[in-house]
Amino acid sequence: NDDVIILSIETSCDETACAIIKNGHEVMSNVVMSQIESHKRFGGVVPEVASRHHVESITIVIEEALEKADVTPKELSVVAVTEGPGLIGALLVGINAAKAFSFAHDLPLINVHHIAGHIYANQLHQPLEFPLIALIVSGGHTEILYMEDHLSFEVLGETRDDAVGEAYDKVARLLELPYPGGPHIDRLAQVGSDTYNLPRPYLEDDTNDFSFSGLKSAVINKIHNAKQKGEEVIPENIAASFQESVVDVLTKKTMRVLKEKSVNQLIIAGGVAANSGVRSAFESLSNTHGFELSIPALKYCTDNAAMIGAVAYHMYEANMFSDLSLNGRNTIDI
Ligand code: KG4
Ligand code: ZN
Repeated sequence: NDDVIILSIETSCDETACAIIKNGHEVMSNVVMSQIESHKRFGGVVPEVASRHHVESITIVIEEALEKADVTPKELSVVAVTEGPGLIGALLVGINAAKAFSFAHDLPLINVHHIAGHIYANQLHQPLEFPLIALIVSGGHTEILYMEDHLSFEVLGETRDDAVGEAYDKVARLLELPYPGGPHIDRLAQVGSDTYNLPRPYLEDDTNDFSFSGLKSAVINKIHNAKQKGEEVIPENIAASFQESVVDVLTKKTMRVLKEKSVNQLIIAGGVAANSGVRSAFESLSNTHGFELSIPALKYCTDNAAMIGAVAYHMYEANMFSDLSLNGRNTIDI
């Protein structure tokens, strides 16, 4: 039996996740235990709270993933785990669980980059087509990458300040929406109109970099000015205006990269790839310009372990193993 069955673990932020993945694309089980309810009252992820929750949940999540897939440790080929980037205390819980599991069951260990995971979430519905461009839009990252082949990553551009998801969450906080605010802004934007004329940061800039902190400040100013003039602030319209600006910058920057590099596929991934405005804008561009577009299913946009197993399959085939000296890394080049 040549099947490669991977047990993968992801604990870089506020989801404790374990999945069993066959041959890099078949999801036998995918367990995600979200901590959102515990972080809500703080308005964001509290690292120490996240670590403690990971400690409480990790064993349960691993056992549940094995049970749901109906797989025993003996049937596994390898254990994979997110090495970074992420919250160091959170990462270490997953890494130590992975090391213990690999030692106890005599399985090799593979260290996976979290952003590679987001990209490979697309492999769960179709093979990646190289060369490709990947736009990563998450709570911690905003990057455009070029991939010539599997596991080859060239960063073409990135945010110089806030990540897109971070900007979504901050604007949501200004509107007093619960954490994480991205999905709430998305919902409001769908019924609002783009009336606030927000700036399009860095669109004139001839690099592929992004900047989203100024957009948040612009929203603060609009709210402040409206209040001073005694005008009503319409949250739906703030949300729609913000989302329009974000989508405009993401699509125009990405289209410029697509003109420079001739590729076979554009991938959008990360938590903000779940956004309805982002999805529909890229879908319509793909139709009009005739390029191949891939966006993960909604549940594989936000953090999960299935995407980590998808990357690990190719690392396994390339004999790229780690060992028990593996350590977590707060920041790490892809
Ligand atoms: O990829 P992810 O789960 O975690 C990181 O690696 O950062 O992304 C989480 C981010 C949060 O900022 C969340 O607000 C955002 O993704 N997000 C959304 C939507 N769903 C999740 N942002 C906008 N619209 C959505 N529908
Ligand atoms: Zn992520």
